[in-house]
Amino acid sequence: MAKYNKLAGKHFLVIGGTKGIGRGVVEGAIEAGARVTLAGSSTASVSKALDEVRAAYPSAQVAGFACDLSKDTVEQDLDALFARAKEAQGEVDHVVLTAADPLAVMGVDEISLERVRKVAHMRMAVPMLLGKAAARHVRRSHECSLTLSTGGIADSPASGWSVIAFMAAGLTGLTRNLALDLKPLRVNAVEPGFVDTPLWESIGFTAEQKAAVFNEWSKKLPTGQIGLVEDVAEAYIYLAKDSNATGEIVKTRGGHNLI
Ligand SMILES: NC(=O)c1ccc[n+]([C@@H]2O[C@H](COP(=O)([O-])OP(=O)(O)OC[C@H]3O[C@@H](n4cnc5c(N)ncnc54)[C@H](OP(=O)(O)O)[C@@H]3O)[C@@H](O)[C@H]2O)c1
Repeated sequence: MAKYNKLAGKHFLVIGGTKGIGRGVVEGAIEAGARVTLAGSSTASVSKALDEVRAAYPSAQVAGFACDLSKDTVEQDLDALFARAKEAQGEVDHVVLTAADPLAVMGVDEISLERVRKVAHMRMAVPMLLGKAAARHVRRSHECSLTLSTGGIADSPASGWSVIAFMAAGLTGLTRNLALDLKPLRVNAVEPGFVDTPLWESIGFTAEQKAAVFNEWSKKLPTGQIGLVEDVAEAYIYLAKDSNATGEIVKTRGGHNLI
């Protein structure tokens, strides 16, 4: 019996799988022989992603559903998403959360209660409530996992990033604690550095501005390049495969921490 193709036939639910890092996880899981259900914020984005994934992987077992996590009904919406995923493709083995709204980079003078609440909804409440939902919907086994997403800002402060830094650092604590609360279901997080995804356009960068910033950072990073989705996605795939890993924060950041 093969020991290393642990994801063959497993069911991945990738929340935020329409684009960016989550899309890489969808493709990586399919290439590892898994069944995949992807979720995004709208029917249109999910349909587009499904069309593209099916064109690239014609024999893939893939489904997709819209689940807008920004609403106050998020708890019921997550329950409904798990129910639809299970109905479409059976029990869920691995859950990945990469969904996030545009980064709210702001100077200290721009911080307001309303803005903090908005950021906290997607980056604090959603991961917590997903932990609660996973406890109800995913088998309590070390063979199953929940993987959250944080970011290099948790370790490397940057001017204007105080609110996001709080959420990113908090996610590491949440990950470790959920690993105890949900045991033996494993809970981990991936901490990416700069990755080339649509996230950067969503905060207002034009293609030219993004290219200029990435070019500047590429010269500084020890790897000499901005992270690629297909590399960073490997961290999520690894965490699903390694039944010995729980409460871990896997960092993939091009050596950003070394400079
Ligand atoms: N890219 C980086 O450099 C970087 C660095 C460090 C950390 N991270 C973190 O890694 C995670 C993934 O980042 P990314 O770069 O892959 O982001 P991205 O390319 O912007 O993708 C975001 C994903 O979130 C989904 N989403 C957004 N709003 C949603 C909502 N209200 N409900 C449901 N889904 C929603 C999007 O779905 P739709 O398309 O359907 O809206 C999309 O699938 C984030 O937590 C990000 O902060 C990224």
